[in-house]
Amino acid sequence: MPNISARSLAAPASPIRRLYSLAVEAKRKGKKVYHLNIGQPDIPTPAAFLRGIREAKIEVLDYAPSPGLPEAIHAVQVYYAELGFDLAPQEILITIGGSEAITFSLVVVCDPGDQVLLPEPFYPNYLGYARLANVEIIPVTTDRSEGFHLPPRQELEACLTPRTKAFLCSNPANPTGAVYTEDELDMLVDLALKHDLFLIVDEVYREFVYEGQHKSILSYPEVADRVIVVDSISKRVSACGARVGMLISRNKEVMAAAQKCATIRLSAPTLEQLGFAAFIADPHHNETIAHMIQEYRIRRDAFCEELAKIPGVTFRKPEGAFYVMFGLPVQDSEDFVRWMLTDFPGKETVMFAPGAGFYATLGKGHDEVRGAYVLKMEDLRRACAILAEGLTLYNAALARAQR
Ligand SMILES: Cc1ncc(COP(=O)(O)O)c(C=O)c1O
Repeated sequence: MPNISARSLAAPASPIRRLYSLAVEAKRKGKKVYHLNIGQPDIPTPAAFLRGIREAKIEVLDYAPSPGLPEAIHAVQVYYAELGFDLAPQEILITIGGSEAITFSLVVVCDPGDQVLLPEPFYPNYLGYARLANVEIIPVTTDRSEGFHLPPRQELEACLTPRTKAFLCSNPANPTGAVYTEDELDMLVDLALKHDLFLIVDEVYREFVYEGQHKSILSYPEVADRVIVVDSISKRVSACGARVGMLISRNKEVMAAAQKCATIRLSAPTLEQLGFAAFIADPHHNETIAHMIQEYRIRRDAFCEELAKIPGVTFRKPEGAFYVMFGLPVQDSEDFVRWMLTDFPGKETVMFAPGAGFYATLGKGHDEVRGAYVLKMEDLRRACAILAEGLTLYNAALARAQR
């Protein structure tokens, strides 16, 4: 029997989905599971988006052009112009979700063995994609007590080697909710200029900001040719299943290489690109987004208020996105998450994403979980009550077992 590849074996399964079969089994046994493990919003997809799909005049559902449907590219231009950025069509590539924009960025910027600097905890699929592309991730650990903001410049510089090609981050950040300050972004820009790096910045949560202000990396003309923005409609339009994202860069070589990658995978979904174009054509699209962000602000506040009541739970209120990475009074958060799905008594339980999978440094994150506040307020409050009870029962069961 031939061996399968080392790189596929080295790629970690997403910690967000890895324990999913236990949740399925719990549900099969009649339990209700509050899914706070995954950033799957429950907000209805806007009517204008769905109407755009329903009313599409299509006889043959054919491939879209590889760079994206002209309607979708135009919609991206309109959306970015509203943010104050004029983009040419050649600076935009429609991708199969932000996910594909991440893979294309890594593949375009790095050769096998090259390194990318990445603050941890990070969106775990960055590590998965890097492993598949044989790119080495150099983690820079950030701290819960600092709100997971970036460490001082010297600490980042100490991680650089001649093989480091890029700095990658999400801003606002998944899983930490950090929104990087202007000073932090200035520092990254300086770093990129001084050390000849690309800046790959994933801004899929751009609008999800509750404290401070988000500044796009596109605001820095001095690094225009070093910047690649990863973007997606999944969260902003509550359309995760649409699988429409985008890669944006003003670097012509980057775009030519990314466009070549795009021809290899043929095209992004046709109908959903039309849905996105219809959403942006709706004059109320910004109000729709703002309304949704307001709902997330309410959810964040309710979730944090409930978490703060649970003894031993530690966190700083997140500034953006829709996640909280919080500490638990347990030694092995993955074991606790499993136990909640397999052993927690009663008719309901809650699922979080275990923290270790958000780190590349071994031994980190074992006392943390990520919670996604993507359910309505009553459900979030109920989920926190279940968590509090779960912690008490779990720690009591562990103490009994150790006696
Ligand atoms: C930071 C970040 N980037 C990218 C993605 C993937 O987005 P998409 O659904 O567009 O592939 C996610 C999904 O959760 C994310 O949190």
